[in-house]
Amino acid sequence: MAGEVLRVGHTVRRRAGPWTPAVHELLRHLEQVDFQGAPRALGMDRHDREILSFIPGDVVHPRMLDDADLARVARLIRDYHAAVASFMPSAVAHWQTDGRDPTVADELVCHNDLAPRNLIVGEQSWASIDWDLVAPGRCLWDLAPPVCNFVPLWPEQPAGIRRYRVSCEAYGLARADERELLKRCARAYETHVAHVGRQCGPRAVRGSGTRGPRRQLAAPFQSSLPPAMPTGAVRRKH
Ligand SMILES: Nc1ncnc2c1ncn2[C@@H]1O[C@H](COP(=O)(O)OP(=O)(O)O)[C@@H](O)[C@H]1O
Ligand SMILES: [Mg+2]
Repeated sequence: MAGEVLRVGHTVRRRAGPWTPAVHELLRHLEQVDFQGAPRALGMDRHDREILSFIPGDVVHPRMLDDADLARVARLIRDYHAAVASFMPSAVAHWQTDGRDPTVADELVCHNDLAPRNLIVGEQSWASIDWDLVAPGRCLWDLAPPVCNFVPLWPEQPAGIRRYRVSCEAYGLARADERELLKRCARAYETHVAHVGRQCGPRAVRGSGTRGPRRQLAAPFQSSLPPAMPTGAVRRKH
């Protein structure tokens, strides 16, 4: 386990922060509505660490999921968005700002860090971990980074657009919103490349197209996407 995450029996202990009460409020809501894709919040220990239920299984990273499992990830995100729709955070909720939707939109409380490193594939259930960055935002904002990373939508991946559709279809995204999501995926890709560049140095992202990923990503897909439409809230087909 990573540095500050410790397993103790059927629990994990993680460093807490000012955001932890709001995160636990959310996790308790998810438990109440019987959403299975998140750990349970079990309080704090005497070292002021948060206590979460331990979820057996392995994180997805660095594997590439096949189409069926890719669709399962999208359904998990869809189910999370449905489960969180009825969550009313308390007025004093403290959210982190890292990864937060820059608009003031509060369509729902986004996970904001759904990624192959933060998804545990268990025998019985799959669950997202690492809920520290949750904050209000838009569905598409929350959907873009995982779609970009699980597909993955890198410019050099020829299966990108086909697998992108697998994700959109499984999430239940209306065709008219695919273009908007793609734009956000391109933005998520830029953010990812910039992050890797900062963490690992410029050599790690050489050839990643930092100068024009938005154009590189979007160009091959333009012809196969439905025409742009004025968008409001995300339209789901079901
Ligand atoms: N609830 C949990 N159940 C099982 N394993 C967990 C759980 N939370 C964290 N882990 C393990 O600890 C690792 C790091 O945890 P994470 O919450 O992603 O922290 P961070 O990314 O901030 O280091 C994960 O990759 C996973 O292996
Ligand atoms: Mg993590």
